[in-house]
Amino acid sequence: MTTRSASPAKGETPLLQLEDFKVDFPRGAAVRGIDLTIRRGEALGIVGESGSGKSVTWLAALGLLGEKAKVSGRAAFDGQDLLQMNQRALARLRGGRVALIFQDPMSALNPVKRVGQQVAEVLRVHRGFSKADARAETIRLFDRVGIPNAQGRVDLFPHELSGGQNQRVMIAMALAGEPELLIADEPTTALDVTIQAQILDLLHTLRRDLGMALVLISHDLSVVGETCERIAVVYGGRIVESGSVASILREPAHPYTQGLINAAPSLERLGQRLKAIPGHVPEPWNMPAGCAFAPRCMFAMAECQDTVPELEACPGQAETGFSEKQTVNGAHLAACPLAREVKAPRHVVEREIADGVA
Ligand SMILES: Nc1ncnc2c1ncn2[C@@H]1O[C@H](COP(=O)(O)OP(=O)(O)O)[C@@H](O)[C@H]1O
Ligand code: SF4
Ligand SMILES: [Mg+2]
Repeated sequence: MTTRSASPAKGETPLLQLEDFKVDFPRGAAVRGIDLTIRRGEALGIVGESGSGKSVTWLAALGLLGEKAKVSGRAAFDGQDLLQMNQRALARLRGGRVALIFQDPMSALNPVKRVGQQVAEVLRVHRGFSKADARAETIRLFDRVGIPNAQGRVDLFPHELSGGQNQRVMIAMALAGEPELLIADEPTTALDVTIQAQILDLLHTLRRDLGMALVLISHDLSVVGETCERIAVVYGGRIVESGSVASILREPAHPYTQGLINAAPSLERLGQRLKAIPGHVPEPWNMPAGCAFAPRCMFAMAECQDTVPELEACPGQAETGFSEKQTVNGAHLAACPLAREVKAPRHVVEREIADGVA
């Protein structure tokens, strides 16, 4: 496996760029205009409750949604327009320069094939390894992702491994293609807390050692806070706030982000009642006309009902002149008029700050 530098190596071309990216299903729009830039080697967390449009964004960009999904805008990987690529080229990209891992490794692994064989196939298809070399490299990769007794485990079937070990197999399979971008969609949601921490730690170490970029998708702010440098908060198919982990966790500017933080369990607040956000995420066919969060927002004003707020720089950022197209620079942006005027109340989960930001 080649180790890459985490610094931008090829000039200014972003590794991945989404511009006004939209996904329409017959019953409504699930992704409604996302602008996002990912640099080489960077770790970006995408956070939001279930149904916000997190998964659909990446599935659509990589050609994994059926024909019923109408995808528009721009999605460029290393300058190449993904929406113009044919299925063959996209398939070559996935499992190669871009890898995906999902919440449930059991559904992604073939139950009737030995786990080592599944990783070896990626090595043979994407990197032209011989059968013997692929087996040796698979054992090395199993070792690298922390599967104990790798030599003995490559010949097992998925059902003979634990959930955490199968997730490690998925990560080994992702690494087999030497990806420049790893998209991990809720990779720890199905695992218990101890294993979850181990897998996050592994992703963090691998990214640092291999210089690959990481998109970590989670409904849990503390998961992305611990592992990423930058966070984009998604609601109703749009980014409602983005910025560095420090700015999002210390000074959340959007009422939705504040709600997510207040709803996050933490050791310091054991025994206290968590404040769940009332109501639920709108379905694509039932999207409010103005701010999608308005029906759940305690600060909603008349203008929120019919005006979709734009992402704008938060106080202290305005003079830098950042726009949503430049989030690569780490500006703190929020899509709420209140964010311009008030600093967020500090209902901050200290543990997340200690672990993820300090
Ligand atoms: N294949 C599909 N066809 C129609 N609607 C879909 C499809 N996949 C997802 N959706 C809808 O799009 C919205 C966003 O889904 P998703 O991106 O999976 O949310 P999450 O943020 O939990 O990953 C949801 O309302 C979901 O019901
Ligand atoms: S725009 Fe209005 S409804 Fe939306 S989050 Fe801000 S205050 Fe609340
Ligand atoms: Mg999802």
